[in-house]
Amino acid sequence: MVDPNLKVLISAEKIQARVRELGEQISADYPSGKLHMICILKGACFFLTDLARAMKRDVSVDFMGISTYGKGKTSSGEVRVTKDLDISLEGADVLIVEDIVDSGVTLNYLMHVLEQRRPHSIRIAALLDKPERRLRPIHANYVGFQIPDQFVVGYGLDYAERYRNLDDICVLEDPPAA
Ligand code: IMP
Ligand code: MG
Repeated sequence: MVDPNLKVLISAEKIQARVRELGEQISADYPSGKLHMICILKGACFFLTDLARAMKRDVSVDFMGISTYGKGKTSSGEVRVTKDLDISLEGADVLIVEDIVDSGVTLNYLMHVLEQRRPHSIRIAALLDKPERRLRPIHANYVGFQIPDQFVVGYGLDYAERYRNLDDICVLEDPPAA
């Protein structure tokens, strides 16, 4: 896709290599038992499918829909569950799989919601982290890449539902009208 507004920040090759590393590291950190991966829709679904396949262990997956951002680049600050989990978390080792930690509002809210469901443990795997933007304290246990405060798209991340299917993660410089 040739688009003058897009500048590659992290290439597809680098993403794939890092996701494989994360899969090996996470598998080694959970040597036994069930590991339940929760994909936060929609952005994390590309990351989840690659990460799950990079795991050297048995995993189960489930999906949760959360909405924070409006249609463009600015957060509404409001968190809403748009699709809940199918499977109970009681006693499970849970790995939340998220595309990006930005303000931390989404994950902070989600951690509170999921902790009430009595999992054995909860950890977070985030492909990207923008630490400069944090408003709520959130520690992601596994991070693919730390990035500066720039709006990015691709590999699941969108601007007004566009660009999710790019292989690379790109900075969106001058966004088209949503
Ligand atoms: P937070 O609640 O501010 O941490 O926002 C997390 C959500 O905002 C992510 O799951 C993304 O959906 C969205 N988001 C944050 N930064 C970006 C970005 O640079 N590009 C695309 N979506 C983003
Ligand atoms: Mg998201």
